[in-house]
Amino acid sequence: MNDVIAIDGPGGAGKSTIAGLLAEELGYLHLDTGAMYRAVTLAALEKNIGFNDNEALTKVAENLNIDFNQKGEIFIDGRNVSQEIRSQEVNAHVSETAAIKEVREIMVKKQKKIAEENKVVMDGRDITTVVLPDAEYKFYLTASLEERAKRRYDEMKAKNIEVDIKGIKKNIKNRDQKDSQRAYSPLKKADDAVLIDSTNLSIEEVIKKIKEIIQHKS
Ligand code: DC
Repeated sequence: MNDVIAIDGPGGAGKSTIAGLLAEELGYLHLDTGAMYRAVTLAALEKNIGFNDNEALTKVAENLNIDFNQKGEIFIDGRNVSQEIRSQEVNAHVSETAAIKEVREIMVKKQKKIAEENKVVMDGRDITTVVLPDAEYKFYLTASLEERAKRRYDEMKAKNIEVDIKGIKKNIKNRDQKDSQRAYSPLKKADDAVLIDSTNLSIEEVIKKIKEIIQHKS
């Protein structure tokens, strides 16, 4: 599958930032699939749906109109929710939403369709293994837990949000565990994905590395 770049990896490894910049440089669409699971979670919170009610959560996913614009902002039923989907409350429940098989099937179908119709850089947890296993360019982007926690901490500090680094680290570790141990489409590196450890690399260095690999292959 040409014109498709698939990037997986754990939370806070920089996937979305890198995928967004890469897409901009290449003139591709950027699809942040984590944002889709976050949108379903936000809609469920707003409807007071319990996170053990798989059937109701699946209905929410089924009926939700999710759109992205060229800037990568996300809309549900026409409403811009790019900020709200990053709330602590969504953070606390998104792994539960993403663990539901039926919810995943609905999201994967949408993601495959977008890849069929667009040149796209898609990032998530199961893009290289389940959504686009035939993508020509597959990457697994990771970084140490300490570094990922530090990056998230800096990000929140810059937004003047009061947080403690220990809490962030615990939250990331918890989500890593849930994402890698769930029954359906757990996070794992595809055998043919190129591993990039960004612990000691800047964003520019990671992008350079990815571009070198793409140019070398094509
Ligand atoms: O990348 P993120 O933190 O925005 O992802 C939010 C959650 O969604 C996280 O718990 C992992 C899950 N997710 C997933 O299961 N599959 C994807 N393709 C993308 C994200």
